[in-house]
Amino acid sequence: MSYSCWRALFIWLPLLLVLLVLLLSSRPRKFIFIAIGSAPENRYRRDACRRSWLSWRSSNVVYRFFTERNPAGREQTVLLNLESQTFRDIEFQPFPQGRQVLQGARFLYQASWALNHYEFDFYLKTDDDVLVCVQKLERLLSERRKKLFWGKYWCKQDRSYPDESFMLFSADVLRFLVQNRDFLLFDEEVSMAWNFGFLSRFLNITIFDDRNGIDSQQGYLTEFLHQPGFNRTKLSAADLCFCNRYLFAHHVHETVDLGIFKENLSLPSNYRMTIQSPVDTCGTKYSIIPCRKSRKLPQVQVRAIR
Ligand SMILES: *[C@@H]1O[C@H](CO)[C@@H](O)[C@H](O)[C@H]1NC(C)=O
Ligand SMILES: *[C@@H]1O[C@H](CO)[C@@H](O)[C@H](O)[C@H]1NC(C)=O
Ligand SMILES: *[C@@H]1O[C@H](CO)[C@@H](O)[C@H](O)[C@H]1NC(C)=O
Repeated sequence: MSYSCWRALFIWLPLLLVLLVLLLSSRPRKFIFIAIGSAPENRYRRDACRRSWLSWRSSNVVYRFFTERNPAGREQTVLLNLESQTFRDIEFQPFPQGRQVLQGARFLYQASWALNHYEFDFYLKTDDDVLVCVQKLERLLSERRKKLFWGKYWCKQDRSYPDESFMLFSADVLRFLVQNRDFLLFDEEVSMAWNFGFLSRFLNITIFDDRNGIDSQQGYLTEFLHQPGFNRTKLSAADLCFCNRYLFAHHVHETVDLGIFKENLSLPSNYRMTIQSPVDTCGTKYSIIPCRKSRKLPQVQVRAIR
């Protein structure tokens, strides 16, 4: 081969290889990734989510159920594999079963999985017994904030941290947590909510303590969603417009037909979220002593500075 041929080869071959690698490693681009923790036996809950709020989302929102395989339950494993092949929305995580075990590690596993498989702007961590007004969430987030955490805090003296059932992170904050897991003071045994209740005090981010949109156990905003024996005829039209008023409900009873709460409004174009920080909502109760729930985290009191 002539010199110029060799030269061309040297120039183009690496470029082609780089292109090929980029092509193979490119991740689908989405707006929101939703990670839903679910016990293997909760098929009925996953189906309720699939039938209702998950079906309202746009193609810009992707989700996965994260669960475990139960080595003892053969029959369950067969069913779970079948479900997984049918819906292609289940990921198996290598943890022992049980909600309370290694919660922080679970969170990081799920977040790493999401970051490795998708590019996204926001990440929501939630449970399988919830109702998320997912269209509303998409619209509210369309301002595309960076450095954001959205949740609902427990305003409890020295135990102030976000509720675990709804934790939304902008991708930059999530990536920071995942990439620095070895350098941060982080206890993989306790929940991400507790860890973040402590860590978030040192991050320069916007924390949205949403006391009006998030209906969870620090003080339910609605009654009817959380009671068995749910009776639709007793509800008023205003109750049925759950998503017009709220954003999220936890501990929704499985007999509730979530489909009827589908929202029916488009937000006015000038609508803005009113972001309230836990410094304002919890006041002096926005304090945490990290070792209260962790053997690893320090014995200090972190308070709000006004
Ligand atoms: C915190 O973040 C804001 C907005 O991103 C930035 O303007 C400010 O300089 C940051 N403050 C510090 C101390 O880094
Ligand atoms: C539901 O509520 C309505 C009105 O209060 C009542 O007439 C009806 O019997 C209730 N249905 C059930 C199944 O409890
Ligand atoms: C839904 O929207 C339609 C059309 O805007 C309106 O007539 C109807 O009252 C709304 N229903 C509810 C339950 O909000």
